[in-house]
Amino acid sequence: MLNLGVLISGRGSNLQAIIDACENGKIAAKVAVVISNKPDAGGLERAKKHNIPAVVVESESDIVKELKKHNVELVCLAGYMKIVGKVLLEPFRGKMINIHPSLLPSFPGLHAQKQALDHGVTVTGCTVHFVDEGCDTGPIIVQSAVPVKENDTEDTLSERILQQEHHIYPLAIDLIARDKLKIEGRRVKLKK
Ligand code: GRF
Repeated sequence: MLNLGVLISGRGSNLQAIIDACENGKIAAKVAVVISNKPDAGGLERAKKHNIPAVVVESESDIVKELKKHNVELVCLAGYMKIVGKVLLEPFRGKMINIHPSLLPSFPGLHAQKQALDHGVTVTGCTVHFVDEGCDTGPIIVQSAVPVKENDTEDTLSERILQQEHHIYPLAIDLIARDKLKIEGRRVKLKK
């Protein structure tokens, strides 16, 4: 069982998808702790419902302490709305992943769905990637494409992308839990 630490700032629907995949035995992993930098994050309640330790911690050094206390082996950022600094990244380099609602490297940063609409792309999607020091720049693990429809608003497009996020995030965690991935430069490859 791979011990996961999930970092959130908000509603936690990706957290929920991860919890469900663990509980249904779809991935050989367990959410050991949920950490939010916001006291009012809805995801904290989701964790409590599943008897998962849930804490509010802001400073990176305290987050690292909390992750170590729970023997976390993989950190999953799931709507964690802060750029990760050195203090948090170094102890978990190669062991920290993020989900982003666009086909990276297009539309990194905030409001990715609005950026896609404003740009006029007809296809966007979501990406799970390893975290490095940049903003949404690390090696890509899995992506899913989502069509943009003519009458889409930011909400309808976000919702369509979210369905795919809930699918590919557990998938990426499963690959890591089964030790199937290796990073070669910018490329993430399947081990033979
Ligand atoms: C998702 O769209 C995720 O890709 C982005 O923030 C949002 C978080 O949603 N990083 P939720 O809190 O998982 O519902």
